[in-house]
Amino acid sequence: MREKVIRAILDSGENFISGEQLSKELGISRTAIWKHINALREEGYNIESVNKKGYRLAEKPDDILSSENISYNLPTEFIGKKIVHFDTIGSTNDYAKEIGNKVRGGTLIISEQQTKGKGRLGRSWKSKSGDGIWMSLIIKPKIDPYKAPFLTLVAGASIVEALSNLGVDVLIKWPNDIILNNKKICGILTELSAEMERVNYIVIGIGINIKTLDFPNEIKEKATSLYKEGYKISRADIVRQFCIEFEKLYKGYILDDDKENTLDICRKHSAVIGKQVYIVKNNKKELVKCIDINENGNLIIKENNGDIKEIMSGEVSI
Ligand code: BTN
Repeated sequence: MREKVIRAILDSGENFISGEQLSKELGISRTAIWKHINALREEGYNIESVNKKGYRLAEKPDDILSSENISYNLPTEFIGKKIVHFDTIGSTNDYAKEIGNKVRGGTLIISEQQTKGKGRLGRSWKSKSGDGIWMSLIIKPKIDPYKAPFLTLVAGASIVEALSNLGVDVLIKWPNDIILNNKKICGILTELSAEMERVNYIVIGIGINIKTLDFPNEIKEKATSLYKEGYKISRADIVRQFCIEFEKLYKGYILDDDKENTLDICRKHSAVIGKQVYIVKNNKKELVKCIDINENGNLIIKENNGDIKEIMSGEVSI
């Protein structure tokens, strides 16, 4: 019902909508309307109320990552059409896995804060309240499990496109870090629930540093945020753009087996192709040259002895 109240207010744009009209349209009492308005104000909506006129939004609710705000007028078919928004949670990926079997594909879990945010390789992910976008997308593609890792590239390419639409040029450090001005701005943690020949669901966890100014000493040299780099962009716009771009690339891959669009973006915006990088795997570190990303999304490298190899996973350090 709260969603319906804010939608009616959003729909009336700059005009006021009276409590009486809301109550008639939505079939609830004026006291109930008033309670919803107060709850929405607590969520951060700046709702103006004027005697004998009613309610209207005093300003665009740019930075609230609620369902009403993001899904409203979102031109996607299913990605981001259902959003579960928390003030605080342990990890959006863990929650997504709890509900993964029960919800429809495209459901997005977003939290303002995570108390147990998870990074790759068992690391933790700092997720302070309002500092970033901490979200997990649940998808349910009808594909063989071996095709799932490519979806991390689809997600990375979608973030590149989303940020580019909003005026920020970023690079991808294969396979799942997004880099701005040589520092990491976003990480992706993909988790899979599958049987041998069937995917139950995939959770794509994305953490984007938006407002963080102080990073812990261990990552200070390597991490950054949009604000730190001088970009003030609404979080809700980024999430919306991500949903739009992800749906395009995802449908291409799942329905038409089109990998080229994603690969094009990953190659054009690669932070590693043509560079000497360290590949870290099983506690071993090897200096290699990155040549390309192949049609399966794997990294092609040239070792010091001239051997060409295909890398399917591992960490790349620039
Ligand atoms: C990495 O670069 O190590 C991946 C970081 C992924 C962080 C995101 S934040 C939202 C989602 N929930 C989590 O617990 N982790 C991912």
